[in-house]
Order: sequence, then C-alpha cells, then structure tokens
Amino acid sequence: MAENSMQTREGIRAVLETFRHTPKAHVQSFGCQLNFCDGEKYKGILQDLGYELTETPEEADVILYNACAVRAHAESRVIGRLGALKPIYDKNPRLIVGLCGCMAEEQEVRALLKKSYPFVKLILGAGAMERLPESLLAVYRGEKHRESLEFAGLPDETLPTVRTSSFQASVPVMYGCNNFCTYCIVPYVRGRERSRTPEAVEQEVRGLIEQGYREILLLGQNVNSYGRGLQTEIGFPELLRRLDAIPGDYFIRFMSSHPKDATPELIDTMLHSQHIEHHLHLPVQCGSNRVLKEMNRNYTSEKYLELIDYTRGIAPDFGFSSDIIVGFPTETEADFQDTMRMIEYVRYDNLYTFIYSPRSGTKAAEMPFVSSQEEISDRMRRLLARQREISEAFNRRFIGKTVRFLAEKFDPDTKLLLGKTREGLVLEAPGSEQDVGKLLHVTVTDAKNWALTGEQQPLI
Ligand code: 5AD
Ligand code: SF4
Repeated sequence: MAENSMQTREGIRAVLETFRHTPKAHVQSFGCQLNFCDGEKYKGILQDLGYELTETPEEADVILYNACAVRAHAESRVIGRLGALKPIYDKNPRLIVGLCGCMAEEQEVRALLKKSYPFVKLILGAGAMERLPESLLAVYRGEKHRESLEFAGLPDETLPTVRTSSFQASVPVMYGCNNFCTYCIVPYVRGRERSRTPEAVEQEVRGLIEQGYREILLLGQNVNSYGRGLQTEIGFPELLRRLDAIPGDYFIRFMSSHPKDATPELIDTMLHSQHIEHHLHLPVQCGSNRVLKEMNRNYTSEKYLELIDYTRGIAPDFGFSSDIIVGFPTETEADFQDTMRMIEYVRYDNLYTFIYSPRSGTKAAEMPFVSSQEEISDRMRRLLARQREISEAFNRRFIGKTVRFLAEKFDPDTKLLLGKTREGLVLEAPGSEQDVGKLLHVTVTDAKNWALTGEQQPLI
C-alpha cells in the first residue's frame, strides 16, 4: 500500500477511535447498473476503513448518495433526498454527507449544493472512488467542502467490494463513452472510453464463479467497443469466448450494446456459447432515420434491422430488448410512427422507455421542441400499450418449452420464485426459499406481457 494511503487510513482510524460508538456508513446508489456496481466499491472502501455498513441513514456517521445524471427528474429527487438529511446532520454535526457518481460531475449541481446545502461537504466524481479516504480525512480535519473529480483512469483493481448478492455479480469491463449521442450527458460525466485488460476481467469472473456466483453481468456504456486502445487489442466477442470457457454452471449477461458496433460475430458467439444469454439488449432509441442522425447514433433503422434479421434467420426465438426515447426535441408524429413500426417489426421482449429529458451542455438541449408535452405523453402511452400486446404475444413462443432459470427471489405469501431465464425473460414458478440463487430447469406453462410462468422440472 502506498505510504500516503497508509497515513490516510491511520488518520481516519484515529478519528474513528474518538467515537463512543461503532462508526457506521450508509451508501445509497441510484440509476444504472454501473452506478450500483460503483456503490459496492464505495461500501468496500468504507468497510475497509473501519465503518460498519447500515441501511439506516439516521444512525450513520457517513452518508454517501451515489447518483445518476442521465435524466433531470431523477436528479431532482436526489437533491430532495439530500435536503431531507439536514435534520439528521443538525442532530449530529460530525455526520459527513457526500454526493458521488455521475451527478457529482455536473458543475451546476455542485454549485447548487455549495450554495444551498452546505452540509453536503464531500463531492466525489464518477471515477474518483480512490479519493474517498483522503477526502473523508480532509473533512474530518475541518475542510468545509471537498471536491474530487477525476475520471480519466481505471479504478484500482485491488479496491475492495461489498457485493450485495451472493449469486449475482456485476463486473465492469470498460468505463466512459466516446459516442456523444446528442441527448446524453454520460460522455461529459464519465469521460472517454477505457477498458480493463482481459486478464483482469477474466481473473475477477473466474474468482466469482469459483465462489459460486450464478450470474455475471458485464458492464460498460458500450461493451461492443471493449478493448480499443488496449496494448493488445481484443474485441468484445473474443472476451466473451474467453469468459465462456471458464468451467461452471452460470449465466453471462452484458449491457449495453451500441447498434453501430454490434456484429454478426457477437451473435454467433452468443449462440455457440455454453453460458451467455440468448438475448440482446440493443438500444435503438428511435425508429426515424432523420432523428437517429440528429441523435448522432451513426446507424440507420435499415442497418439496425440487418442484425435483427441475421439473428432471427438462424435463431427465430432470439429475444431483443431496447431503450426508446420518446419526445426527442425534433421528433414529429411521423418520426414516432417510424418507432412504432420498429417495435412492430422487431417484436421486442421488453422496452425501457424514457421521455426525453434535456441535459445542459448536450447538443440536443439547444434544439427547440416541435411537439407539445401532451403530444409526447400521448405517444408514450401508445407505445407502452402496443408493446404490452407485442410482449405478451411474443412471449407465448416459449409455452411448452423447458428453459434454464435463475431463481432470484422467493415470495413466502404466494410461494412463487421470481427470476430470469437464459433468454432474459422474467419468470415465475412455484418453489421454496432454498431455491433462491439456483439455476433450475422450468417448463413454461403460460406467458403474460411482463413474465412467463412455469413449473420446475426435477433434475435428471
Ligand atoms: N433523456 C431521456 N433518456 C435518456 N437516455 C440517455 N439520455 C437521456 C435523456 N437525456 C436513455 C437512453 C439510454 C438510457 C440509458 O437512458 O435511452 O440508452
Ligand atoms: Fe450515452 Fe450514447 Fe454513450 Fe450510451 S452510447 S452512454 S446513450 S452517449
């Protein structure tokens, strides 16, 4: 360990020894899977420094909100929740409240906190995780406002992690984004793309599988550009093949894929694998070529559909899901109809739908709206209603088939297990608490728009 990080630890330990109780820390993450994954590292660092983790902010000595910047509405909610911590701080002025993650990278947010929420003394940008100990110590030593905002490098491979689940684990393969979609704030708050080495990823995944993890979720803003810039360049399909070769019983999932970089090689790798999900989250965002161009997405709807056609040509049941933004500033009703045609053609299993939210500093934030908010809400309603019908009809293709299913939760009232199949579909099946965390064989008996239902098959 570096000399100054040893000194920092000693400094914090000395402060914590003056407490008359066990020091406690509360970390709450908001937003995407990558943020939750970072949250597990914040927890690891705090535990390593001597804090006990707590779910109760009222009893904490450190509270970190690890928040997302992608949409304005979620941000306002976090600001509201930070404000609600003031009475806790007033009762315990030694409490350190911090904001970290993408939201902390926004200059306007930092200015607002400094002005109106001065009890939020710690600001840590996405990618400045390692700076947490020294920032805490600085505040304990009297600094009123400490900001650490680097995001150029990769997190230290040795950072401790407190995993939330004993059978599902997230593993980042790359950080940052180079794409600058015109609506998106991520490239500004997470910096340029940088990949972990395949050796580091493989070692982590192998370790998790040896510990009995059943689902590995590989994460990156655009996993399909994984490996660019590494000393020995390697593509994402090659990384997947290396991971798939690790012995064990597990699923590999990944997100997100950018359609401009997803290839038939990726699909072939998935279909020929032992462990990789037979499902691809391929965010199209919109069906109109004009809007896609204005979004700077670098593909057309025809190009997007080529990969769908290629896949369904060899695997007709293969499932896709997508993110869709409704109400991009220049979206007209005709553009929206292109999106409706897209969902009709692809028959997605599932859609993650978002009303466009202007983010300051992005190109789209300068574009005037051509539709009213009522028209946009109405489009969203129509999109969701049609998608429900499509999901239900398409999910029925699994009735009568036996699938593999990871049981994630058990509801003691209904006696039902809830989890996901290798095809990425939510499934419910009767079972017991002991089944949670296991990969089971289930025969699908029914399908609704949001889930399949099934019956467990005895292990042969
Ligand atoms: N407004 C609405 N949705 C957005 N997304 C990204 N930026 C915005 C925005 N400004 C959505 C995209 C992306 C998903 C993670 O969030 O659909 O794929
Ligand atoms: Fe945002 Fe586009 Fe990068 Fe995804 S690919 S994080 S939408 S800029």
